[in-house]
Amino acid sequence: MAETVTIIIDGEKYEFPVITGSEGEKAIDIRQLRAKTGYITYDPGFGNSGSCKSAITYMDGKKGVLRYRGYPIEDLAENCCFVEVCYLLLNGDLPNRSEYQRVSVMLNDHSLVHEDMQIFFQNFPRSSNPMGILSSMVNALRSFYPELMTTEEAMEITFMRLISKVRTMAAMSHRISRGHKIVYPRPDYSYCANFLNMMFDSPVRPYEIKKEFVDALNMFWVLHADHEQNCSTSTVRGVGSARANIYAALSAGIAALWGPLHGGANRAVVEMLEDIRKNGGDVKKAVERAKDKNDPFRLMGFGHSVYKTYDPRAKIMKKMCDKVLAVANTQDPLLDIAMQLEEVALNDDYFKDHNLYPNIDFYSGIVLRALGIPVEMFTVMFALGRLPGWIAHWRELMDDPEKKLFRPRQVYVGETERRVIPIDER
Ligand code: SDX
Repeated sequence: MAETVTIIIDGEKYEFPVITGSEGEKAIDIRQLRAKTGYITYDPGFGNSGSCKSAITYMDGKKGVLRYRGYPIEDLAENCCFVEVCYLLLNGDLPNRSEYQRVSVMLNDHSLVHEDMQIFFQNFPRSSNPMGILSSMVNALRSFYPELMTTEEAMEITFMRLISKVRTMAAMSHRISRGHKIVYPRPDYSYCANFLNMMFDSPVRPYEIKKEFVDALNMFWVLHADHEQNCSTSTVRGVGSARANIYAALSAGIAALWGPLHGGANRAVVEMLEDIRKNGGDVKKAVERAKDKNDPFRLMGFGHSVYKTYDPRAKIMKKMCDKVLAVANTQDPLLDIAMQLEEVALNDDYFKDHNLYPNIDFYSGIVLRALGIPVEMFTVMFALGRLPGWIAHWRELMDDPEKKLFRPRQVYVGETERRVIPIDER
């Protein structure tokens, strides 16, 4: 017997089916709600509404669980490189050695960017925000690859092209913004080593590839690779639901990630920590400001729409800080401030009552600073990690027999009908 719920409206009973997910989570199927009752639901930000069924990522916000295709994030971060996780998200399972080799060759073969695109980069003002450049350039990339994705092979080439070229373009935008010659990808470097080399190699000071930094970057991007229906992924799905092409959908996802409440938080955390440091390191004052309803200040890197406990990714990121700082042979005063801030906040009743814990962005900036990534590139680093997740969700939506054009409803609270009064009588 299929499970149902009953809603009573004006004495009338209405039954709606219940959908149960593979982890036992329940959803009321309200697709017939408006037709049957004339009512709609009201759920700003859709925090209580499922937009789709998905088999990509599972999160338990209470227990702090995150799994990609069933694999716990802790296991993946410890044992897999970013390219393996890209394959996992796109294909549903981890690659064996020959599959890994095959996609690595594809990523290498599609790592160059059309030379004509350099002119686009060179014509952005030097001070342009790299997220705006990346969003524009991903859209522009389609002009060079207008072919339709009608076969599995064409799909895979497009996905590999995006994962490889967007990484190259990110490094290019950084180099050109600094007035430096661009560095080309190398066939003898791995995906992550190539990115670091394209960012930092110099004719007068060749960049030394450190295994620990390459490992840290792999782990950083594995932690960012997907996160079910977050704001930017829902944006990618929304654009995809109109059957716009994947380049347009990803460009929109990058734009959504730019926001300081979402992917822009990693940069906002470091700017917040810098402010606290410059003002004498008074973390208690920052916590008090974050609690003050009259103060727009929020503790960036704290709180989460889903996690009401410690973000499992933040735990891993926090451990990574010490490792990369040791290899970089440097201390970062912001790490001490971050840890003091965490200590005070986690022992504060307001934060405990509101279930506010560090999220992935709280420590990620410390890792990026140790790798030498400039702060203006922090959210770009998040975007490069999230790319395979966005692509996997776009693909899942395209294959979903129940997909619909995104078109939420509203509760209208404006003027009721009225007549126009001629201008000279108003
Ligand atoms: C990411 O969705 C994803 O999965 C995103 C992400 C991913 O991988 O894709 O995980 C990446 O975006 C992580 C989040 C990065 N953003 C930040 O760190 C910005 C700071 N955090 C907040 O702005 C906030 O926590 C949100 C937006 C992240 C989540 O907010 P909620 O849970 O949707 O709810 P809310 O904004 O309504 O806050 C609920 C209460 C409010 O207090 P009350 O009015 O109920 O008394 O908690 C308070 C808020 O004022 N609150 C905070 C706070 N976050 C929430 N108070 C102080 N500091 C904070 N950081």
